[in-house]
Amino acid sequence: MARIPLVVGNWKMNTTVAEARALVAAITRSALPAGVEVAVCPPFTGLADVSRILERSAVGLGAQDVFWEAAGAFTGEVSPVMLADLGCRYVIVGHSERRQHFGDTDENVARKTRAAFSHTLTPIVCVGERVDERDARQTERVITRQVEAATAGLSAELLGHLVLAYEPVWAIGTGRAATGMEANRIIGFIRSILATRDNAASAHTRILYGGSVTADNVAEFSQQPEIDGALVGGASLDARKFLAIISGFAHRTLA
Ligand code: PGA
Repeated sequence: MARIPLVVGNWKMNTTVAEARALVAAITRSALPAGVEVAVCPPFTGLADVSRILERSAVGLGAQDVFWEAAGAFTGEVSPVMLADLGCRYVIVGHSERRQHFGDTDENVARKTRAAFSHTLTPIVCVGERVDERDARQTERVITRQVEAATAGLSAELLGHLVLAYEPVWAIGTGRAATGMEANRIIGFIRSILATRDNAASAHTRILYGGSVTADNVAEFSQQPEIDGALVGGASLDARKFLAIISGFAHRTLA
């Protein structure tokens, strides 16, 4: 079962429009290795300009969050219709920073996931345990709850198109990545949860690792059979480092 690796840059709340344009120009200037899908997720304010720069590029555009309604009186929110209109292909949903600071619940994450799919966007749903949950040996329990909630009601077809990202909260932005073996084990566990819903679909679902992925440690993750790519924060703000991470996953399709 060949799943094409996917490397996604989450720029978080960084880049002015000019900086976003410069960063995406630097990424697209280099020839990207074949056999790896790449996407960048600028802040909302950069989407329109970055979309224009990516028009003739294979690099996909994603947003960092979405609301679940298509339109209406929801001050400050951005709808899936608006994102699709700007050329977005992906949207990150349920990032731990949204869960921690902005009140995203399992239920809201499920709504956003379904809304993304109904408007042609591919959701990248983030799951992962906090350090206290890990210390209390609750990792599998937390992940099961998050994955089951986010995928509730999805057809087998959509399950196969879904992208999940295992991002242990303690590894995000800390420089303390999980080990490749540990990430591989949890991602295998996530796939086994999906398999109980639909075995065939679970073999298609791409599950990424995220949390302090760098050009220096990417090989640790790309060697692992269950890890289908990376969701990259800090290192995605430097074109050279981001390209090195992309190259790190290129060998997967040659194997
Ligand atoms: P990081 O962020 O690579 O800076 O740890 C990852 C993420 O939050 O997706």
